[in-house]
Amino acid sequence: MSFTYTHRCIALAFSFVVLLNFEPISANDIVSRTCETSAARDPNVRLDFCLRSLAAAPGSDTADLYELGAISIRLIGRNATSTQRYIERLLKNEKKKSSSDSYIRPRLSDCEELYSDAVETVGEAAAEYGRKRYDEVNVKLSSVMDAVTTCEDGFKEMESRVSPLTKRNGDVFELAAIALCILDLRP
Ligand SMILES: *[C@@H]1O[C@H](CO)[C@@H](O)[C@H](O)[C@H]1NC(C)=O
Repeated sequence: MSFTYTHRCIALAFSFVVLLNFEPISANDIVSRTCETSAARDPNVRLDFCLRSLAAAPGSDTADLYELGAISIRLIGRNATSTQRYIERLLKNEKKKSSSDSYIRPRLSDCEELYSDAVETVGEAAAEYGRKRYDEVNVKLSSVMDAVTTCEDGFKEMESRVSPLTKRNGDVFELAAIALCILDLRP
């Protein structure tokens, strides 16, 4: 998965550099240009989602590209942490029920474990980013995307059952896709 992402975003790295060199561009333009190029090149990134997420993040209005990368990784960490807590709450409620759902419960348990690892991995990705070891960051964030995909796929094993985590898994996946695109702009 990491290779797909790397290759997809290389072309936009070039266009971004061109934009940076030939236009006076304010800090906030970096957010919109980053999101525009990411959304154009990566079908997993929606422009409005990217703009909403990055613009709402503290510090993004004055961030340069490198800082924006750090901010995007922080966003994944916060998002994944809050989903991990949400899964814990769902599991607690399942356990309270007299007729615990034998389909949902083991899958939620799997997701809890996946998210607990993923949160740790995002922390490692942030540390590697600080050391500018971008290949390592790429591997770590790609594994986070794999984790939330595995979580979501668990609920597809039985027909007519719906995952309670579709939106949250999708959010983490998309935030990681955005971070990988920023990474490939080589801040
Ligand atoms: C995750 O991030 C998305 C996009 O910024 C946001 O809409 C959503 O509310 C966040 N979810 C959690 C659980 O923090």
